[in-house]
Amino acid sequence: MAGDNSLSITDNRTGRSYDVEIKDGTVRAMDLRQVKTSDDDFGLMTYDPGFTNTAACRSAVTYIDGDAGVLEHRGIPIEQLCEKSTYLEVAYLLVNGHLPDKTQLENWVYEITHHTYIHENIKELMGGFWHDAHPMGMLLSSVGALSTFYPNAANIDDPEQRYMAAVRLIAKVPTLAAFAYRRSLGLPYVYPDNDLSYSGNFLSMLFKMAEPRYEPDPRLARALDVLFILHADHEQNCSAAAVRVAGSSRVDPYSAVGAGVAGLYGPLHGGANVAVLRMLQRIGSVDKVPEFLEGVKQGNERLMGFGHRVYKNYDPRARIIRQHVDEVLEATSRDSPWLEIAVELEKRALDDEYFTSRKLYPNVDFYSGLIYEAMNIPTDMFTVMFAVPRTSGWIAQWTELLNDEEMRIARPRQIYTGARNTDYVPMEKR
Ligand code: SDX
Repeated sequence: MAGDNSLSITDNRTGRSYDVEIKDGTVRAMDLRQVKTSDDDFGLMTYDPGFTNTAACRSAVTYIDGDAGVLEHRGIPIEQLCEKSTYLEVAYLLVNGHLPDKTQLENWVYEITHHTYIHENIKELMGGFWHDAHPMGMLLSSVGALSTFYPNAANIDDPEQRYMAAVRLIAKVPTLAAFAYRRSLGLPYVYPDNDLSYSGNFLSMLFKMAEPRYEPDPRLARALDVLFILHADHEQNCSAAAVRVAGSSRVDPYSAVGAGVAGLYGPLHGGANVAVLRMLQRIGSVDKVPEFLEGVKQGNERLMGFGHRVYKNYDPRARIIRQHVDEVLEATSRDSPWLEIAVELEKRALDDEYFTSRKLYPNVDFYSGLIYEAMNIPTDMFTVMFAVPRTSGWIAQWTELLNDEEMRIARPRQIYTGARNTDYVPMEKR
C-alpha cells in the first residue's frame, strides 16, 4: 500500500495503477514517466504553458500568499521592511538570507557606494544608441556588456567572484539607468556622489544640472527607497524565471541578469507601469471610466495594473505605494490629473463582479507610475525604475540557484505538432 503522502493513479488505457510520492504539495513530473502503454512508450509528461502550476525550484527568498495578500522577504513582512528598513539593507537580506549586523551593513553600503562608477568605454556604448533609443534597450545592452569588463565573473563557483558581481550589479545598474536617461535627453552624464544615499545618489545622477551639488528632497529620496524595497523581489516572476533559466547554463551573473532585464521589459510584466499611465491618459477623465470598464468587459481592453498570477487579493505593495502617492504629490507640489481617474477605476472595478469574480485587484504597477511622473521621471524610464531595485532580487535568485544541488540546466520538453518524415522539395517543384 502506498504511504499516506502519495497519489495513486490508474491509467485507464492499461488498467495499471501507480503510486507517486507527494512532497511539499507537489508530485515530481519525472514520476509520471513510468506511466506507459508499452515498453517503448516515452511515458507521461506534464503540460503547463506559462508554468501556471509548476514549481521549478525550492526557494527561501520570498514568500507570497496570493489569497491572503501576504508578501515576506526571508520571512519578514513587506510592511515592516518598508517602515523600518532601507533598500540596501533589504538587498543584503535577500542576497545573504539574514539581516546584517551593524558592521556587515556598513561594509555592504561602503562596498556598493564605492563600486557605482562604470568603465568609461560604456559611455561610448551608450553614445552609439539613437537619441530616441528606449532606456530599457540601453539598460539591457549595457548590463550584458558588464560581463565583458569583468570576465572573472564567469568563475561562478568562486564565492569572492559571486560577491563582487552582486556588489557591482547593485552598485552599477543605477548608474547605467541614469546614464541611459541622460543620453536620451542629450544631457551630460552625472557621476555618482558617494556622500548621498543610494536613492539620493540615483536622483542626483538623474536630475543634477548646473548646481554645484544636487540636494535630494529627503521626502522623495525616502519615497524612492520605499519603492525600491517594494520592487526588490517577487519569487518566481517572469524575469526571475528568465534569470534562473539563463543562469542554469552556468553563464556569468551579468548575462543572467541581462535575461531578467529582457523579461521585465514586456508590457505584461515590468512594462505594465508604463501601460497604466498610458491607459489613464487614454481614458482622459473620470466620467469616461464606466465606458472604459465596459470595453474591458467586452474584451477590447485590458485593465493594466490589475490582476496577478499569484495575488488573488489586493497586492500588498499596491496598498503601500498608494499611501506614498499623496506624500510625493505634496513634496513635488504637483497634482496628478491621472490620480482621480485611477482612484475611480479602482473603486468601480472592486465593486464590479466581472473583476472580483476573476480576482482582479490592483497590483504593484497600478499606482507606481503616478509617483514616477510626479518625480518628473519620463514614462519610458518607468520600467527602468522597476529594473534598478529588482537587480538585488535577481541576484538573490541566481545565487540560490547556484547553491541548489538539484540544479540542472533548464531544458523543457514539448508536444510536437509539426510534420514528420517529409521529403525536401526542390525549388522547381515548389
Ligand atoms: C508584475 O509575477 C509577478 O510577481 C510579477 C510582478 C513582480 O513583482 O515581479 O508582480 C510584477 O508583472 C505585475 C503584473 C503587471 N501586469 C499587468 O498589470 C498587466 C495586466 N494584467 C494581466 O495581463 C494579467 O493579470 C497578468 C499577466 C498579470 C496575469 O496573467 P495570468 O495569470 O496569465 O492571468 P490570465 O491572463 O490568464 O487572466 C485570467 C483571466 C482572463 O479572463 P478569462 O479569459 O478567464 O475570461 O482574467 C482576465 C483574463 O482575460 N484578466 C484580465 C486582466 N488580467 C487578467 N482582464 C482584464 N484586465 C486585466 N488586467
